[in-house]
Amino acid sequence: MRTKIKDALNAIEPQDEILIKGWVRTKREAKGFSFLEINDGSCLQNLQVVVDGDIPTYPVLEKIGTGAAVKVRGSLVESPGKGQKWEVQAREVELIGYADPKTYPLQKKRHSDEFLRTIAHLRPRTNKYGAINRIRAELSFAIHRYFHDKGFWYIHTPILTGSDCEGAGEMFQVTTLNLNQLPKVSGQVDLSQDFFGKKALLTVSGQLEAEALACALGDVYTFGPTFRAENSNTPRHAAEFWMIEPEMAFADLEDDMVLAEDCVKKLVSYALKHCAQDLDLFARFVDKGLSSRLENILKEDFVRLSYKEAVSILKRARKKFEFPVGFGLDLQTEHERYLTEEYCKKPVIVYDYPKEIKAFYMRLNDDGQTVAAMDVLVPKIGELIGGSQREERVDVLESRLKDLGLSKDEYWWYLDLRRFGSVPHAGFGMGFERLLMFLTGVSNIRDVIPFPRTPKHLEF
Ligand code: 4AD
Ligand code: MG
Repeated sequence: MRTKIKDALNAIEPQDEILIKGWVRTKREAKGFSFLEINDGSCLQNLQVVVDGDIPTYPVLEKIGTGAAVKVRGSLVESPGKGQKWEVQAREVELIGYADPKTYPLQKKRHSDEFLRTIAHLRPRTNKYGAINRIRAELSFAIHRYFHDKGFWYIHTPILTGSDCEGAGEMFQVTTLNLNQLPKVSGQVDLSQDFFGKKALLTVSGQLEAEALACALGDVYTFGPTFRAENSNTPRHAAEFWMIEPEMAFADLEDDMVLAEDCVKKLVSYALKHCAQDLDLFARFVDKGLSSRLENILKEDFVRLSYKEAVSILKRARKKFEFPVGFGLDLQTEHERYLTEEYCKKPVIVYDYPKEIKAFYMRLNDDGQTVAAMDVLVPKIGELIGGSQREERVDVLESRLKDLGLSKDEYWWYLDLRRFGSVPHAGFGMGFERLLMFLTGVSNIRDVIPFPRTPKHLEF
């Protein structure tokens, strides 16, 4: 049985027999022996292997270089060198998979993020992208643990859907029709011949279905991939991204904001505790301010600003914005970042947005102008979370749908939830990649998801 490098490095005593498998990061040759630095993905750190020239399998080292997969048998011994406690003294080295040094793309120590995006299948073998993927895994687990401990049920909402949750019209359509030979009736594509007999889309959010389950199970959350066809080529938007969406029955906007703040803080503290070694890489090489920013999140309360207050702060700001500011206009990333980075210098929750710039399902406030919405804004990112209390009054919801030109018939089941045992309920969506960017200081969303999907990019 192979020992994972993470466990070998954490050993408490030497071991006579150890079997290690991994990929060679570097090979150094000295007189009569060689050093191999091996990584198997179990942790950031490599394991040093010393191969003496007199072991029978020594000649195989000629074929072993950076990128090769190897198997090493030997003893785990205390390392006399500095930088590591343990090393392996090899008795037998075997080549599992050859990597031609002339063509293996990861020879150089440092490559640009742009170059590494073109080899997304190999970049997880670098320190930085290995670390990102481990942090992604740890945080996924942390999310499940957080909600599980709070008594939320993990539910699965569909990826194929017939309804547009956000009403923003930025959805991918899914079809099995032959696009070169579309069936038509009176000039229109005949969707009755399509797989579902109607228009099918990839979901932008699991919220609507999560509401149905919350109105039966109480507190639920969904955590899965979502898809948006917005043609925005920004460092913060991906066409496929993962979202965490809790939904609570018997809850209002205040409960929603409390949950959002607590959730962010708990996830930050989980990451600091469980991903310390990987995070340290980002604090040293990617974002010098990372550690203090993360520590600060834990110490202080998030600032709360009504949208109205936020707009007046932005109007007073002695800063030139590219986009206009005014009541009724949506906040742009530059505005959000000003509020959280420069004005408050900590996370900010903006709430009570004008109804015109928010989705149909948000609860209308008594002023008739604003809805019970909230966005959590964090330094370096802008919007991390978007949520709201949902409209639970069937008549108000129907008139909202009507105002927005949305069909009552399409949302019949959603209206049903308001007809039968309707309760105040609230929830939010947190972009998982944005959370990872926030935690690591990585500034481009393409670098925190293994295989990014953005306009005109689908190589893998
Ligand atoms: O604010 P959004 O659009 O909210 C919803 O979809 C609600 N239905 C969620 C809910 O209440 N259950 O999206 C939520 C979050 C954003 O705050 C952002 O972090 C992330 O999803 N997000 C994206 N992340 C990456 N790429 C994109 N194109 C994103 N669009 C939204
Ligand atoms: Mg939003």
